[in-house]
Amino acid sequence: MLDIAFAKPALPKTGALVLLIHEGEKPSGLWAQLDDSTGGAIARAFAVADFTGVKGKTCAILAPGAGIGRVLAIGLGKPAETTRTILQEAGGTIVAGLPRETAATVTASALTAQQAADVAFGAVLRSYRFGRYRTREKPEDLPKLAKITIQTAEIPKAKAAWEPLDATAKGVFLTRDLVSEPPNVLDPPEMAERCRKLSELGLKVEILGPREMSKLGFGALLGVSQGSVKEPRMVVMHWNGANGNGRKSKEKPVVFVGKGVTFDTGGISIKGAAGMEDMKWDMAGAGTVIGLMATLAGRKAKVDAIGLVGLVENMPSGSAQRPGDVVTSYSGQTIEVINTDAEGRLVLADVLWYAQQKYDPKFMVDLATLTGAIIVGLGHEFAGLFSNDDSLSQKLTAAGQATGERVWRMPLDEAFDKQIRSDIADMKNVGGRPGGSITAAQFIQRFVNGKPWAHLDIAGMAWSTKDAAIVPKGATAFGVRLLDRLVADHFEG
Ligand code: BES
Ligand code: MN
Ligand code: ZN
Repeated sequence: MLDIAFAKPALPKTGALVLLIHEGEKPSGLWAQLDDSTGGAIARAFAVADFTGVKGKTCAILAPGAGIGRVLAIGLGKPAETTRTILQEAGGTIVAGLPRETAATVTASALTAQQAADVAFGAVLRSYRFGRYRTREKPEDLPKLAKITIQTAEIPKAKAAWEPLDATAKGVFLTRDLVSEPPNVLDPPEMAERCRKLSELGLKVEILGPREMSKLGFGALLGVSQGSVKEPRMVVMHWNGANGNGRKSKEKPVVFVGKGVTFDTGGISIKGAAGMEDMKWDMAGAGTVIGLMATLAGRKAKVDAIGLVGLVENMPSGSAQRPGDVVTSYSGQTIEVINTDAEGRLVLADVLWYAQQKYDPKFMVDLATLTGAIIVGLGHEFAGLFSNDDSLSQKLTAAGQATGERVWRMPLDEAFDKQIRSDIADMKNVGGRPGGSITAAQFIQRFVNGKPWAHLDIAGMAWSTKDAAIVPKGATAFGVRLLDRLVADHFEG
């Protein structure tokens, strides 16, 4: 991971200098000093580039003198409008803009401790790479930036502000690693083993295999899994942080549930070949829950939280589930499986019922790459939010605005629920094309037993095909920062 340091403002002797500049700001401090010692090189470059500190604009200056190899100026926009997101994005811009430098020093006229930490956060988040399977990379082709020093007058406070963000970045990286792994490597047993490793962070980890789940009566989840030679797993991760002594407090826990289909071929209702490789990231909901639990433990969040993930592979084979099969879920409700490609809801049905039965949650939030239809509706800008609880919805929406991991609430309604009535069972697993994401959510709602719950359909958000300021292309880990923020703002202390 990129090395982060905080230091007092002073001109560096070598390397790159990053100037964070507000719109219309006049030169002062190190900026003015550097401009003087370079005979006005900075001012001339800004004039040529018409750089005035407008948000998101940058100006790069090569070899300005005074030993500095490169100056990168980044506009922050109007001072009154400087949000945490803007500072994080500036951090990301540093990493994207200085691939050839080994070290960069970041300065601004007055960076508070929190602002300095946010620059660091954005820089680290952008620096993520999944390089595990590249064996022939030339060193000169790799990004060289190894260390960023951020200047602030409040060094101890900046370090304190960085600590939880550092833990969050590590959680995000864990999720990105899991989601990026190929499906031959990351099958359900392997994913469960990676969860087990989190006990190093103080999480209690339980793993259930097919025999335990079949004893419990997880007919919906096991039906999805039965076509695969890979055994299914359910993993339960406990973080007891509310009491500060590692033991469960009297408060109800907050519960997160993730869909973990390590590969979704569609099963007998098989998908087309084009783009099927994307279905390696059909475990992103589970990956996010795992990274979130690592984050909460890593920053010692003052909350009791439980993460549950249902891990299966959805394959066609002689033993696979057929369209027309009827399965009995752990809740006792029966399901007619019309389409074996609508498997995520079957997995969530059993895990959610187990979660609410066993843990009496304050609320449950599930995450799932559940429907292609949510991409039609909300594109790659918002996750779909479905909830039976207005207050939880509002908190999630606010956390989305604050982190940039945005969610948009969609309806739930009896009228949609009718679409999943079955002729021979309690329900069927698909409701037809109209409102496809909503009928999927209606299905899941039948397994939350009226408990406070929100469902995030992240099919459009889990993977990105282009770089963004703090999210390089590939696995995004969407939801880790969002849900960490939900917990931090409302459920700690
Ligand atoms: N994992 C898919 C949904 C998905 C699609 C995620 C594209 C990410 C990108 C899910 O299991 C699925 O196949 N859903 C079907 C449901 C349909 C059969 C009712 C879909 O969306 O087509
Ligand atoms: Mn599917
Ligand atoms: Zn799926």
